[in-house]
Amino acid sequence: MAVIFYLSGSGNSLYAAQQIADDLQECRLETVGSYLRKPYPVTDEVVGIVCPVYCFALPPVVAKFLEALQAKPAYCFGVVTMGGNQGRALKQMSEALAAKRITLNYAQTVMMPDNFFGIPLEKRVKMLEAAEPSINQIAKDIADRKEAVAAVKEALLWKWFGTSASWWYLKNRLKFDNMTVDAAKCVGCGICQDVCQMQNITLVEGKPVFGNNCANCLGCFHWCPQSAISAGKLILDNSKRYVHPKINLQMMKGD
Ligand SMILES: Cc1cc2nc3c(=O)[nH]c(=O)nc-3n(C[C@H](O)[C@H](O)[C@H](O)COP(=O)(O)O)c2cc1C
Repeated sequence: MAVIFYLSGSGNSLYAAQQIADDLQECRLETVGSYLRKPYPVTDEVVGIVCPVYCFALPPVVAKFLEALQAKPAYCFGVVTMGGNQGRALKQMSEALAAKRITLNYAQTVMMPDNFFGIPLEKRVKMLEAAEPSINQIAKDIADRKEAVAAVKEALLWKWFGTSASWWYLKNRLKFDNMTVDAAKCVGCGICQDVCQMQNITLVEGKPVFGNNCANCLGCFHWCPQSAISAGKLILDNSKRYVHPKINLQMMKGD
């Protein structure tokens, strides 16, 4: 039996996780948010982690998940999806697993459209086409229980400077973790609440209210059909809105 724990805002990592799960036998998918709400001893032989790169590192919520993870898999893999630069995300994952006496047997990166910087549609299409063979190869490697960790690279610049400077810029300059809703645009559909893997959004009088447990995944921002949600100074118009074209709302609702 296998399990893939994932975090996904715009669907890139969920899509990669689904493709890997299809090639593995008897594999279930679970969000890191769900595991954090209710940690339990994982008895699966194969454990995978699929998530995006944030600020040249793992998303903080994934780092938290790895600290909470109780597992002794025979085979463990990590795949990160990214707009262009993983920094030291896989190194961080391998170190966090090693602290739990779990060996990372296979690690890989996949370039997919960046959901932070809006990128032009034609470029997105090309990136998604280019990602397809990489994801297929990764899925095959994992199904074959291949050992390959060349993608686990130290990057001290990101460790000591890049990650904290990037977070500082996002939080203090862009104020991007200050999620707000334009009440005039919001129609109270509740999609933001459905796609929030941290269960951090509640609807009060038909409008979203954001709690203090945001994973910064921008899922609510991208999935809002009214473009009513802003992330600090990141204000969405339709040209910036991106969700993976093969992922739908039902899939995003996850567990
Ligand atoms: C807060 C934030 C920070 C990001 N930082 C990076 C980064 O440092 N390097 C990079 O290549 N992509 C970065 N990205 C882009 C995502 O890693 C990429 O688009 C990923 O595929 C999104 O996956 P998802 O759709 O599963 O959430 C960042 C995205 C967000 C939301």
